Amino acid sequence: MGDQEPEIVIARDLDDLHRQAAEFVTRYIMNRARPGNRVAIALSGGTTPRGLYERLAGENLRHKIPWSRVHLFWGDERCVPPENPESNYRTADESLISRVPIPLENIHRMPGEKTDPQKAADAYERTLRDFFRTAPGEWPAFDLALLGVGSDGHTASLFPGSPVLEETRRWVAAPYVEKLKAHRLTLTLPVFNHADQVIFLAAGREKAPVMREWVSQENRTARFPFEMIRPLSGRLLFLLDREAAGSMNPSERKP
Ligand code: 6PG
Repeated sequence: MGDQEPEIVIARDLDDLHRQAAEFVTRYIMNRARPGNRVAIALSGGTTPRGLYERLAGENLRHKIPWSRVHLFWGDERCVPPENPESNYRTADESLISRVPIPLENIHRMPGEKTDPQKAADAYERTLRDFFRTAPGEWPAFDLALLGVGSDGHTASLFPGSPVLEETRRWVAAPYVEKLKAHRLTLTLPVFNHADQVIFLAAGREKAPVMREWVSQENRTARFPFEMIRPLSGRLLFLLDREAAGSMNPSERKP
């Protein structure tokens, strides 16, 4: 894990968080998507990013983004078909993909519909290897990874106590999540930690306890999965709303 200091930005409320996130993501894509460059983004699941996706597809920003150079992937997915309301793909399709001129071949969906989760994870790893064309032993380098934080400190589908937190070889895993009584598909920690820019979006008072514990702990031992996301050479931004930040202030940097 890297030792880049995380940046913490506290937004007034969820709407302001979405506004700031959308402006940051748009600027980031415009800077990275130089002619000939592709921008690989791992989308977050959950409900928090919906407003961000809607803004990226909105009148003010849609035309600024060179969609033909943007490639969308998922950080994790539920083991359900894409039309299922639980599907992270469906959330992104409804709020973003169906509203912007992104080529179909730029959408790299996790195959949650596959009945065998491990086969689905292996298939997605092949998708990533086809795209990134890494040398043997090299990790894929996403440009941007968007992530959320659960009230138990999970991120993507990396849950506390899961053996997947020890994964050092696979790019994509299919952990069984006890508390959900279900399998999930998820990128693994080394993949996230090789991204150029990671953005955590967290909103709501139910996230305040883990955020408070995170910012107040003296040493650097990661207790929650989200804390294990420390890009080796990339940058880390936490975008919180006031409720999730609790009494934290931006000057409280992680040790
Ligand atoms: C998922 C997400 C998960 C999510 C957090 C926060 O598939 O559910 O990847 O990690 O980001 O649970 O979810 P909310 O944004 O809904 O609070």
